[in-house]
Amino acid sequence: MKFAMKHLILLCAALVGAATASAQKWEGLADTPPMGWNSWNKFGCNIDERMIREMADALVDSGLAEAGYVYINLDDCWHAPERDADGFPQCDTTRFPSGMKALADYVHAKGLKLGIYSDAGRTTCAGRFGSFGHEYQDALQYARWGIDYLKYDWCNTADINPKGAYTLMRDALRAAGRPILFSMCEWGTNKPWEWASEVGHMWRTTGDIGLSFSDPKAFTGDWKPRTVMQNLDDNARLRRYAGPGHWNDPDMLEVGNGMSVNQDRAHFTLWCMMAAPLILGNDIRTMSDQTAAILTDREVIAIDQDPLGVQGLRYATDNGIEIWFKPLADGEWAFCLFNRTLEERTYEIDWLLYCFTDTEVSQRSTAFDRIVYEGRDLWNGGKSFRTDRPRSVVIPAEDVVLYRLKPVAER
Ligand code: GLA
Repeated sequence: MKFAMKHLILLCAALVGAATASAQKWEGLADTPPMGWNSWNKFGCNIDERMIREMADALVDSGLAEAGYVYINLDDCWHAPERDADGFPQCDTTRFPSGMKALADYVHAKGLKLGIYSDAGRTTCAGRFGSFGHEYQDALQYARWGIDYLKYDWCNTADINPKGAYTLMRDALRAAGRPILFSMCEWGTNKPWEWASEVGHMWRTTGDIGLSFSDPKAFTGDWKPRTVMQNLDDNARLRRYAGPGHWNDPDMLEVGNGMSVNQDRAHFTLWCMMAAPLILGNDIRTMSDQTAAILTDREVIAIDQDPLGVQGLRYATDNGIEIWFKPLADGEWAFCLFNRTLEERTYEIDWLLYCFTDTEVSQRSTAFDRIVYEGRDLWNGGKSFRTDRPRSVVIPAEDVVLYRLKPVAER
């Protein structure tokens, strides 16, 4: 009896130890917003292993991987028509003849990570099998395959409790023992920002992004995605809920998919100002040099990835020009002017008008009346200036200027 008790105690200690270890593995997976590529925006269901391998090659060859984009994420439609006889998920063997483990090995050998997609309901949005009732089996299979990231969707979930469903999958992933980043995709329907900071590493705050900067009429089908601007506006309101390990996700990038270069630059910059996950949605095998230059700009990416992890603030709007601030580590700030109008504008920056304290999140003050900052104009080769005098800038239509401000002197 004594012997059995001792073993029981040892077993309990081991289980607690394992649970703590997997919770620890879970932490630190998204200290800064996740970066990678996903198949959906450009390719929808049309994916296969050859293309995914080519995408992994291109991520490395283009310099994107070195710039921080490490995840290669399969979205919907990797699935076989049915689970296997024991209920485990299996992939479509026509499209993925070498299997998921081989794909993960390929991606890992390039120093990258592999993401997969599932859904909390019985079927996914594109009608493939979902994880409902198979959560632990699915997590186990993902771990065996070597998956590093799970996007978990919310189609076909009538009568399912959202917090319960996402927590169940989180626990299943933890129990499977492999660190797997958990990306919640329930479109903001149940306000995940209010309850999910301990559940997922990121959560969608909006419906699906589409390929239009600001014109909802561009979408003509029955089902309508949203413009980049609609997602910006919804996500901008939620800054107090984002932080290291739990990010607001205004959806994947449309950069390089057909908008103007000004719109692409604005979209990318504003996602960085909002500390959004940077998940590319274009064909990186064939992207233009202009697209690559936007997506690999280290100094702009550093605004998104800043270790302080505070989502930027839309401080004011002045005659169609939005004024954004993002507190950065070491007393620095990112400052962005976004010309939302359809005309080029000249704008006079009077720094003294922007003395404020970010009482909502960081408690940090800009104090332009007391502190002089040295600015770097990030989209203009880092040209420098100081904030002890006003500054005049020209901003093209639907474009941005982005500065990094570093405190250098008392005023
Ligand atoms: C939903 C998601 C999209 C994508 C599709 C796949 O619409 O929000 O991001 O994953 O499903 O079917």
